[in-house]
Amino acid sequence: MTRSLKLPGIAYGGDYNPEQWPEEVWAEDMRLMAEAGVTMVSVNIFSWALLEPSEGTYDFSRLDRILDMLYAHGIAADLATPTAAPPAWFFVEHPDALPVDQDGRRLSYGSRQTFCPSSPAYRAAALRMAGELGRRYADHPAVVMWHVHNEYGCHNAECYCDVSAEAFRAWLQDRYASLDALNHAWGTTFWSQWYYDWNQILPPRATGAVPNPTHQLDWRRFCSDALLSLYEAESEVLRAAAPETPATTNFMVNFSFEALDYWRWAPALDIVSNDHYLRSTDAESQIDIALSGDLVRSLAGGPWLLMEHSTGAVNWQPVNRAKTAGELRRNALAHVARGADGIAYFQWRAAKAGAEQWHSAMLPHAGTDSQIWRDVVRLGADLRALAEVRGSTTPAQVAITWDWNSSWAMELPSQPSGELRFLDLVRSWYEPLWRAGVQVDFVRPDADLSPYRLVLVPSLYLVDDESTANLTTFAERGGTLAVGFHSGMVDANCHVRLGGYPGAFREALGVRTDELFPLLPGQTPTLTEGGTGTLWSERVRLEGAEAVTSYTDGPLTGVPAVTRNSYGTGTTWYIATHPDPTTLATLLDRIRTEAGVAPVRTTPADVEAVLRRGPDADYLFLINHSDESAEVPVSPGAVELLTGKPLSGSVGVPAGEVAVVREPRRD
Ligand code: GLA
Repeated sequence: MTRSLKLPGIAYGGDYNPEQWPEEVWAEDMRLMAEAGVTMVSVNIFSWALLEPSEGTYDFSRLDRILDMLYAHGIAADLATPTAAPPAWFFVEHPDALPVDQDGRRLSYGSRQTFCPSSPAYRAAALRMAGELGRRYADHPAVVMWHVHNEYGCHNAECYCDVSAEAFRAWLQDRYASLDALNHAWGTTFWSQWYYDWNQILPPRATGAVPNPTHQLDWRRFCSDALLSLYEAESEVLRAAAPETPATTNFMVNFSFEALDYWRWAPALDIVSNDHYLRSTDAESQIDIALSGDLVRSLAGGPWLLMEHSTGAVNWQPVNRAKTAGELRRNALAHVARGADGIAYFQWRAAKAGAEQWHSAMLPHAGTDSQIWRDVVRLGADLRALAEVRGSTTPAQVAITWDWNSSWAMELPSQPSGELRFLDLVRSWYEPLWRAGVQVDFVRPDADLSPYRLVLVPSLYLVDDESTANLTTFAERGGTLAVGFHSGMVDANCHVRLGGYPGAFREALGVRTDELFPLLPGQTPTLTEGGTGTLWSERVRLEGAEAVTSYTDGPLTGVPAVTRNSYGTGTTWYIATHPDPTTLATLLDRIRTEAGVAPVRTTPADVEAVLRRGPDADYLFLINHSDESAEVPVSPGAVELLTGKPLSGSVGVPAGEVAVVREPRRD
């Protein structure tokens, strides 16, 4: 967080939509928020239609009452600009602000986030609304943060209309300056795609065969930037009105969302916040929480806020599972462990009507005589007990590269294998580290790597020259670099790096591959050191590296599947297949042990250990995901913060429970 919230301790609350309820209900909301220990709520997210009944006519009376009521009850407001859901009248007056999909279908209004991100009419209307709110509430004592829009791009990351086409061309002119440069970057001599006039360039609309890869990649970059420019414009208007009030927008660093390049977004936010939801079918969603939390903390460069998650089931998956006993608490405290200085839910009170009537909330349909409510109240007490953790950060010795450009490029059609998913590859490398209790940061490939001993590159299909030099120099100067298959293959324009694979990393890895042999589902060649490869294989030739394990069957019998190389004063590893999970875990354990990386604490299986380090103390979070109680050794003088009990020698963590231990700093 570049700025911090003017609120003590760990913020607690959720989206609060009182406009959806009769005002008699509000008094009960205030009473129950006090009971739960709520300190901050996000308001006004979807209120545009009520605030501006017709263009330029405003009615802020209800919002005035809401903010005054919150202030009177000591609850801070994260005040949203309601620009994620323009009212019906707006679209009736500006039908061309409705988005067009890839097949040329113009969508209709009637839900939310159905507008074209490049529409001048939308931008003007959104900025007018932000200006009105900024002027009116800049000095309102309840307002501690601006919540700009809501989940940019959640439903409208791409619009293929003519207005977007125009904006895309302007973006391309900015990037390439000349058509000649664009034609070369896109390789448009292929399939007669050469452009002679900027006006000939369109968004990658539905076409008969595979569109140009660089065209598609630039489109993704443009779409992310188009939404970012809306965020920047709204936040500038708010900053002009209230320079002291920090602004955020809620990211969606989650299993299903990859439309925005959040490395480009994060510096534009005063405070980074994120929304996280569980996938019902993920049997170990605690790993997804950890991965997402580490990624958000890395984007923020420190503490961040969890803006939304769910107390129970969501309503937008095929089957929406409820949380099991203790899961709400484990989930929330796991986010705190990964750097969240605020915990908030969608939403405060479960809706009676509307498309989200079957979504869980802090106050369920059943009311206060419910397990969720009891858990919500208990969590409020937990967060109060953790107030001193606020602001502390998490030291890591391992960095994992994360790059949206590369993930977009690798998942384009017509690849050697259509089976590769960036997030799955990263998670498969992340999991063994999570199980071992090793802390990691995520980094851009061109980040400063000096704080780390080990840099993991599970998937980096696209890499520019600067990042290549950054990563290989890290190894040359003594670091350990481990690279996964299908990395370093193309440059920033998506052009193949010639002379043998894995192009950019060939020399540093001491290998050269002349042909790729992607594996079909079910094809699992065995390895000399045990285990099997899946997904991918390639004909690797050693050029200085040693083979760590090789294929014992199939067309590549005898060919190395994993290699290790001395490079400068460091070490490089190439993992040229996707080993089965046990083999990958053994390999990554060896790589990190050789690199001198230790876990934050050794714990029994499925007891997650995470460290936050404050100026005067370490905070060890222990989350027991197992069915058995665990005993973990602690330092002399340690205190368990959730119970306030001093500890002597160890802390007990019952099955499904959490302990947070304050210890003297160990560094
Ligand atoms: C998103 C939105 C919320 C709500 C939740 C439901 O995160 O920001 O408004 O729709 O999903 O899970």
